[in-house]
Amino acid sequence: MPATVSNRSRSQLLAMLSSGELTSGTVLGERLNISRAAVHKHVQALMRQGIPIHRVPGRGYRLSQDVHLLDSTLIRDGLDADITNRLSHVTVLQQVDSTNNWLLKRQLQSSIHGHVCVAEAQSKGRGRRGHNWVASPYRNVMFSIGWEFAAWPESITGLGLAASVAVVQALHRFSVTGIGIKWPNDLIFGGAKLGGILIDVNGESAGRCITVVGIGINVHLEKSDAGLIDQPYTDLNKITGMVTDRNQLIAVCSSEITRMLGRFGDLGFQAFRAEWERMHVYTGRRVRLVGHRGVVRGLVSGASEFGALLVVDDNGHTHRFLSGDARLRLEQ
Ligand code: BTN
Repeated sequence: MPATVSNRSRSQLLAMLSSGELTSGTVLGERLNISRAAVHKHVQALMRQGIPIHRVPGRGYRLSQDVHLLDSTLIRDGLDADITNRLSHVTVLQQVDSTNNWLLKRQLQSSIHGHVCVAEAQSKGRGRRGHNWVASPYRNVMFSIGWEFAAWPESITGLGLAASVAVVQALHRFSVTGIGIKWPNDLIFGGAKLGGILIDVNGESAGRCITVVGIGINVHLEKSDAGLIDQPYTDLNKITGMVTDRNQLIAVCSSEITRMLGRFGDLGFQAFRAEWERMHVYTGRRVRLVGHRGVVRGLVSGASEFGALLVVDDNGHTHRFLSGDARLRLEQ
């Protein structure tokens, strides 16, 4: 069977499996005009991609009931009314290396201003400081938004911090409370990581500033992910005890981030500083920063107007750390 036909059958099959009903291999085969054996082969291939398909012997297949596929129309429909026109595209990909990379590549050919790129699965998801971002396919939220500032915002170094404030605000709209931020922009719940933000910045030094804001939120992590994540982690379904509507979550996050980007372009990080300090889980706490300049111990006093973490040591001296400069640890 030629690859294109096979791929089309596979995505049609996936759509049929997402109806919620159990459908037999024979019926699926009739609808797709392929044999029962071919249906079985496609189901196996989809499962190898990490798609949770449930099979009841003698009755058929369906997608696990807690999985709702990503859908660009549902995401667009869920955007706030004042945001719809500010986003140029919503692209949903089944599989990509990294949604940030996808937009960075596209930016070489055309504008990515207001382009939202969402993926069901990433093969090389990137985290901060060169780490991988691990998230089981079809169950989590991984997306990026491209944005162009006409000129470089003076406080561009604070963009990730402002983005984390926007995501916490989006989560509040789902009645998820108790989420904090760990410098620079980790989303934390009960000491465990719920999500993170990766900012890529590009452009001409005296001209436009092109950014990609990448967001990863754990919605449902599989046990198999545990060995691949090097810190305590949690996910939204565990926190809320409910199945999160990923399309709605992406829509609300995209709305809040787009609003933040507009405001950031006008006012810079200063407009988000107080809110970030309030949400930062270590504000007023004693910490240790380990970086290439050695170790600094002191109390976190807040963030500078450029998004640098401010730490006051025992001699009353204030140290400033930009994201990437050092690793932050709580002192016991
Ligand atoms: C972190 O290390 O905390 C940042 C994680 C950012 C992950 C997201 S997932 C979507 C986007 N694409 C990537 O490759 N990374 C970001």
